[in-house]
Amino acid sequence: MTSRRFKFAFLFTVTLLAFLRMATAQDLKKQVIYQIVTDRFFNGDATNDNPPQSAGLFDSTQANWFAYWGGDLAGIQQKMSYIKGMGVTAIWISPTVDNENKNMNTSAPISAPYHGYDARDFMRVEEHFGDSSNSWTAFNNLVTAAHQNGIKVIVDWANNHSNYNGGGESGALYNNGVFMASDSSDPNGYFHHNPNISDYNDRYQLQYYTLDGLEDLNQENATIDNYLKTAIHQFQSHGADGFRLDAIKHATWGWEYSFANSVFNQSPSFLFGEWYNNNQYDPLYHDAYKFANKSGIGELDFGFNSSVRDVFASNNNFSEIDATISAENSNFTWNNDLVTFFDSHDESRLLTLNNNNNRLHEAMAFLLTCRGIPVILYGDEQYLHNDTNSGNDPYNRVWMSSFSTSTTAYQLINKLATLRKNNDAIGYGGFRQRWLNNDVYIYERQFFNDVALVAINKNDSTGYAVSGLYTALPSGTYGDYLNGLLGGANLAVTAGSGGNNPANNFTLPAHTVAVWQSVGTPSAPEVGSIGPTVGQPGLKVIIAGKGFGNSTGQILFGSTAASIQLWSDTSVTCTVPSVTNGIYQAQLKNSSGTAANPIQFTVLTGQLIPVTFTVNNATPTSTGDYIFATGNTIELGNWGTTFDTASGPMLDPNYPNWFLNVSLPAGVQVQFKFIKIAANGSVTWENGSNHQYTVPGSGTGSVNVNWQY
Ligand code: NOJ
Ligand code: NOJ
Repeated sequence: MTSRRFKFAFLFTVTLLAFLRMATAQDLKKQVIYQIVTDRFFNGDATNDNPPQSAGLFDSTQANWFAYWGGDLAGIQQKMSYIKGMGVTAIWISPTVDNENKNMNTSAPISAPYHGYDARDFMRVEEHFGDSSNSWTAFNNLVTAAHQNGIKVIVDWANNHSNYNGGGESGALYNNGVFMASDSSDPNGYFHHNPNISDYNDRYQLQYYTLDGLEDLNQENATIDNYLKTAIHQFQSHGADGFRLDAIKHATWGWEYSFANSVFNQSPSFLFGEWYNNNQYDPLYHDAYKFANKSGIGELDFGFNSSVRDVFASNNNFSEIDATISAENSNFTWNNDLVTFFDSHDESRLLTLNNNNNRLHEAMAFLLTCRGIPVILYGDEQYLHNDTNSGNDPYNRVWMSSFSTSTTAYQLINKLATLRKNNDAIGYGGFRQRWLNNDVYIYERQFFNDVALVAINKNDSTGYAVSGLYTALPSGTYGDYLNGLLGGANLAVTAGSGGNNPANNFTLPAHTVAVWQSVGTPSAPEVGSIGPTVGQPGLKVIIAGKGFGNSTGQILFGSTAASIQLWSDTSVTCTVPSVTNGIYQAQLKNSSGTAANPIQFTVLTGQLIPVTFTVNNATPTSTGDYIFATGNTIELGNWGTTFDTASGPMLDPNYPNWFLNVSLPAGVQVQFKFIKIAANGSVTWENGSNHQYTVPGSGTGSVNVNWQY
């Protein structure tokens, strides 16, 4: 390489990295995500339609819904102004890693991994999405274009498995082109080789069995652990801002804490995962919110999803949504980090369930103003749906046949994405029901003096008289923020007391959504977000909100001040100080010492690595009793003895021996014991002195002890 070329490459890389760093984010509360099934969006590069290494998986006629149809990363890049014009600020794209190259059916017709969930090489980009050298060029170009337009790139990422073991390449996994293992050739134990999951309420099966024939990765294997972490770091260094983690209920739960920690240590990022089904009626609901509250990984909100589909498509009463939100808000510590959606690539579209555009608009307006980070599925803004086989997968993965910027849905998304940017009540605020009947839902979002009041009438023919409505909006007359796009009119508010100002009586016409809002001026700093929510001393953390002032103040963890890298009126970047591990209320103070509302952050003891604990011959348990581990650091629960604080439940495929993977601070000596937490909450400790273990400095660890009687 000549020195001129080297200098150019060097300067280019430095500039690119600086640019990419600016674009990354540790929370997405003010974003609107647009979910794209990459293969079905837009064909921007015909040269990758039928690449040589995986020839024959493409169907140019788009008759076979299980084949590749030609959409690619270049196509998304070419549609960037359409995406930006909709107001969305992040795109979630299909898993982008190299997928298996062969037909998954043992004979015709073609069944191809056009969706991206059948990885063969996590170190490379899929040739149908990029180019036939599996190079990073198309991905880099997409990221650059997205960032230039203020749009973040979220990559779908599946840690649980490689590819289908019943056909195709039989699970074969590669490391940058070098074969590692397959279902039938796995001398190093990279896969679990268990049967398909049959009991979806069995914690052991969920994590260690096979999900629908997808070759199940053994994340506790040091090579696989390192492989997955290195691979995602590559996507981070190529500019990915965040990741949607596929099937987090099926990868090893304890290991995922170390995975998240390793992502956050690489560069700022936001992670959210698919824990199906984390609604309040699921038997493992408690496991689901414990995971979201402790791991640093947000979750897709399936409770929201099913309630919204029930209410807007199947015409259930609004009380169903109201009950879901209030239950989840009391269980999920970071409920504004829940990622909300009503359509996805895994279920029939709302318009298939009920072909009524009013209802689609109403559901969208609710999604975009409710608590949580909203996801719009590509094509919903064009009213696309295909109802073959009730619109289920793959018929929900329609071809994006229209890019009109004049649909009502497109404009609605733009309006409400703008509101989210400008009124912090939407991204950071609380959620409160103000008025409810079967067809009408009026709710308020509030962040200090920022308020948004939203009224929805989903009935297609009946208007309702609304009386006795109170709001935190100050007295005055409010125009509909949507300018009547969905039928809303003015609202008059008079002064009341205690944040309850009476609204004048009015009639909410059939199929109407009205949004009234007001942005206040802070009298003290107001904190709305912290990201990540967990990490060790030295990790970079961003606190966001408003009214911080432009001169640098302080962030306190207990009485210890963090060192500040960047301070602006709305955002502070600091590093976690060297304080004792534990749960803190981080406290921002402005330059004149005025304190903001505190926000929870968990300080870890050190960077995490996964350790597998086994305790043999544990004390007997009956139904509903479980063995847990607890110990002297926050990673082990700080001697906590409850379901939420201790580590577990442990797993007992070899009862009365129990095991559990827990992510622990590298290089630290920990003390621990095993306990039984009975169904009624009563606790039995094992006898003797504490066990001790020094966590390795890197790789993975394991501990095997006997229960002490
Ligand atoms: C859930 C994904 O959303 C789905 O589309 C995929 O097939 C499975 N996980 C397996 O990766
Ligand atoms: C009770 C345990 O038996 C003991 O080993 C441990 O040190 C303490 N809890 C910690 O509080």
